[in-house]
Amino acid sequence: MNVVTLAGSASVQSRSTALLAFMESQLHRRGIETRRFCADNFPSRALINADHTDPVIQAFQKTLARANAVIVATPVHQASFSGALKLLLDLAPQRGLEHCTVQALATGGSDQHLLMLDYALKPVLSSMGATHQLPGIYAGPADLGKCSNGHHMPGPDIRRRVEQAVETLASLLEARQVKPLKHLEKSTFSLAQAG
Ligand SMILES: Cc1cc2nc3c(=O)[nH]c(=O)nc-3n(C[C@H](O)[C@H](O)[C@H](O)COP(=O)(O)O)c2cc1C
Repeated sequence: MNVVTLAGSASVQSRSTALLAFMESQLHRRGIETRRFCADNFPSRALINADHTDPVIQAFQKTLARANAVIVATPVHQASFSGALKLLLDLAPQRGLEHCTVQALATGGSDQHLLMLDYALKPVLSSMGATHQLPGIYAGPADLGKCSNGHHMPGPDIRRRVEQAVETLASLLEARQVKPLKHLEKSTFSLAQAG
């Protein structure tokens, strides 16, 4: 199972990346590996120009093509998702999310932009072929606390929602893994019959 995660904040102690990190840790506990990308992983000029001839970008596209699921995390910026996330999404080929399940996570400075996930992010992900999007998770100012080391930590409500999302995602990924095997068994059977 390949899960690619996209961190859409460049902030050092990012709230949205903390939410993403919590979801990643829950997936790891179930033995599901994740591979995280953020804007810092790419040469800036190639990133800004979405230069698909750049080898780092091509390697990212290959990883994305193998992904069974993609998790995107973003802060709300001007009532929309962040420019940093848009830069990452622009690196994907057209319909680059067609083959995978997508989960969106967002953090905002208020609870007022909760709908950003539906009116701003969802249509963009849909246009990239993401026909299967799990319900987005939005964390407002009260949903994340701060540890003594300054890092953010999701509070109990948001942790529960992320754990539920992980449960759903893990079952979907497991179910998908079973499908190709069944298909293979069927075709082997018909070949044996034909022979
Ligand atoms: C440029 C900028 C624009 C922002 N615009 C909004 C906004 O429109 N609505 C909102 O609720 N929060 C807004 N915020 C607050 C961030 O969404 C919020 O602090 C978020 O949790 C930061 O996540 P991060 O630490 O991962 O970057 C904005 C912050 C910045 C820096």
